[in-house]
Amino acid sequence: MKITVVGAGNVGATCADVIAHKELANEVILLDIKENYAEGKALDIWQTAPINLYDTRVKGSTNDYSKTANSDVVVITSGLPRKPGMSRDDLISTNAGIVKTVTENILKHSPKAIIIIVSNPLDVMTYCAYLTSKIDSKRVFGMAGILDTARYRAFLADELNCSPKDIQAVLMGGHGDTMVPLPRYTTVAGIPVTELISKEKLDAIIDRTKKGGGEIVNLLGTSAWYAPGAAAAQMVEAIVRDQKRIFPVCAWLTGEYGLKDIYLGVPVVLGKAGIEKIIELKLNDEEKKLLADSAKAVKEVMDVLDKMNTSVPH
Ligand code: NAI
Ligand code: 2OP
Repeated sequence: MKITVVGAGNVGATCADVIAHKELANEVILLDIKENYAEGKALDIWQTAPINLYDTRVKGSTNDYSKTANSDVVVITSGLPRKPGMSRDDLISTNAGIVKTVTENILKHSPKAIIIIVSNPLDVMTYCAYLTSKIDSKRVFGMAGILDTARYRAFLADELNCSPKDIQAVLMGGHGDTMVPLPRYTTVAGIPVTELISKEKLDAIIDRTKKGGGEIVNLLGTSAWYAPGAAAAQMVEAIVRDQKRIFPVCAWLTGEYGLKDIYLGVPVVLGKAGIEKIIELKLNDEEKKLLADSAKAVKEVMDVLDKMNTSVPH
């Protein structure tokens, strides 16, 4: 098994580190455009192997895609992160150019790879990679839902003073302020969360979750990386170990939830073929409306990409 992570910055290096630590592959290639950056990060990660006791070889490459040849899974994190005051959508033009070039280079050397997009604005960058790749959408999808759900679960664990392991939740929609946490599908060791927490407190946690990325940008001056890197690695794990895990993933919809021709966060089964199934929950009217609003917001940015980036093939 061979995994490539493109972008050796905060998220990419963290993701490669988690992948290696969990021994998800024999080899991890970390690639970056910045001279010697990926080599340096890879060397540092590899030097944790004798301490963390793993065999996965971690190697760096400065933009040499031949080193990524025959990768089974590729995680694309290359692109600019958010700075304070920037929305994810501000990143669209620069990051679309980067994601397009990277996707083309990756597929030249690994035509069978499964591609996981992390670069922001997430839903639209995933769309960009899909248009560029012209491969089955089961093999091109984005990471956001695991991260957003993890934030929601972490906030709930704090509030309820319980283990985050016991909190099960699903969150849908775009990776932005319109995301749709679903309290009706949130349980704590099987107990509906609504039995354990007041509506006011739950609403406040939902609101904090929606703004969870921005909260970290305001604290750090750049966006998060530990949880995003771990979340992308969890998707890699589900694929390489064919776990059939159910995760919210940014997936191409073809009529599910009454939506089509859009990338949006929905629960899926993730296994060795990539997205093996999209799960359709029976949403109530309020949830349907929130999802439709989120889809509208994502579609607007997809339209921006369609108009802006005429060089991305359809
Ligand atoms: P970073 O700036 O630390 O790393 C980005 C890396 O990409 C840099 O090392 C840069 O040299 C590299 N890069 C730029 N152009 C490239 C190219 N053409 N080829 C190869 N490498 C290239 O940024 P960070 O914090 O790692 O974030 C990466 C991306 O992930 C950002 O777009 C950020 O907004 C996004 N993100 C998405 C999340 C999600 O939930 N989907 C969560 C957190 C970040
Ligand atoms: C996050 O949610 C900014 O998308 C990035 O942390």
